[in-house]
Amino acid sequence: MLSRISRNVSRRSLVASVSSASGRRAFVQPSGADRASLVDVPSTYQEDGHFTPRPDMLGFKLETPRREDSLEAKTRPIYLDMQATTPVDPRVHDAMLPFLTDQYGNPHSRTHAYGWEAEQAVEDARKHVADLIGADAKDVVFTSGATESNNMSIKGVARFHKEKKRHIITTQTEHKCVLDSCRNLGEEGFDITYLPVQKNGVISLDELEAAIRPDTSLVSIMAVNNETGVIQPLKEIGAIVHKHRGVYFHTDAAQAVGKIHLDVNEMGIDLMSISGHKLYGPKGVGAAYVRRRPRVRPEPIFSGGGQERGLRSGTVPTSLVVGLGEAARLAQKEMARDHVHIKELSDRLINKINAEVEHVVRNGDANGYPGCVNLSFSYVEGESLLMALKDIALSSGSACTSASLEPSYVLRALGAAEDMAHSSLRFGIGRFTTAAEVDFVVKHIISTAHRLREMSPLWEMVQEGIDINSIDWSQSQH
Ligand SMILES: Cc1ncc(COP(=O)(O)O)c(C=O)c1O
Repeated sequence: MLSRISRNVSRRSLVASVSSASGRRAFVQPSGADRASLVDVPSTYQEDGHFTPRPDMLGFKLETPRREDSLEAKTRPIYLDMQATTPVDPRVHDAMLPFLTDQYGNPHSRTHAYGWEAEQAVEDARKHVADLIGADAKDVVFTSGATESNNMSIKGVARFHKEKKRHIITTQTEHKCVLDSCRNLGEEGFDITYLPVQKNGVISLDELEAAIRPDTSLVSIMAVNNETGVIQPLKEIGAIVHKHRGVYFHTDAAQAVGKIHLDVNEMGIDLMSISGHKLYGPKGVGAAYVRRRPRVRPEPIFSGGGQERGLRSGTVPTSLVVGLGEAARLAQKEMARDHVHIKELSDRLINKINAEVEHVVRNGDANGYPGCVNLSFSYVEGESLLMALKDIALSSGSACTSASLEPSYVLRALGAAEDMAHSSLRFGIGRFTTAAEVDFVVKHIISTAHRLREMSPLWEMVQEGIDINSIDWSQSQH
């Protein structure tokens, strides 16, 4: 069925090995009776070397079946949950497609053109990711996502140095996969310091400096917080860490890569975790930056074929990696434009809500990443708030864990009271969010907050001028 698909082998290495006839590009056909014939460049071939296969090239009708339980376009809620995941940029999708169809070679195959073209695509992607963070391409290792990169970096460095050093520093507001990696290490006998954060979510540099000990091997501090958008001072952290020989600096940059300026050399970063699906790339792919000079040696967590400098065994998934690479390339090219667009919408949302609803607190730092706006609504019951916002897809500061409704540990670490953590909403704005969407959301939020407050006895007391904080609630619980 696929025998009529033309395949583009215009990459440098292949042009040499699959010679081109006069004036025509060289192509090989996938296995079949007519393999290795020359065909014309597809009409959808684009300047930058990518093409989208036309349906007629596939030999069958390309149609995405709509799942029965999928949301109809007109009933889909407005998506403001960009920290959970971002949509794949259509240009990323286009770049990936050839590697899901005809360019299916294993990038580790050394003996034929299928492997070479896949390998070239992987190396191009590696360069795009490296360029985005100011790194050398050789220092980028592909993984399945930031969870894996965090595990690999934290456990890997800790275990490699375990004979001499058994102390790790991190913060109380890290993503669960960092905290859980540290908890695992604690069970293995490592000593973990969880630095607190200040009210604005930023760590104290003095506290960091004081926490570093002769047996510290790693400091792991995230770049942008996923719940609050708080940005940690990476450059200052890097400078403090590198005053101490033999201590490495890892940053979980899943929410930062492609959103804010990052440079591993300028910031003294030794290891960095990257996730594809947070920057308009596909899910299931990510990268770890692992510095070679001076060399950082994490102990690999996977055993196998020794791919990716021996740090991450397993066949590199070409299409996903190409998607991540294209997402990184676009992010670098469009970061300034994205930032202006996102900041504008973020200000629009905050200003409009503040103009109509009193007692709204922004959690985190006003100078944080503008695409993550975390607001708490006093005197509004958190669960009812979320339930009332069915037309909007966003996250709340209440994390449902088993039977109980736990307030966010991140907001608690910033000193938010339990009820304020419960009544918080995280608005995630991204590249494709529109002003009309923000206006729709604002309108809903305003009317919902007013309606829920009308039903709140606390709000009634506030209206009557009673100081809520002066009430002794323990009396009334009997
Ligand atoms: C800060 C942070 N770190 C790590 C992760 C995990 O990323 P991935 O889904 O790529 O494993 C996330 C995603 O939620 C995140 O926000």
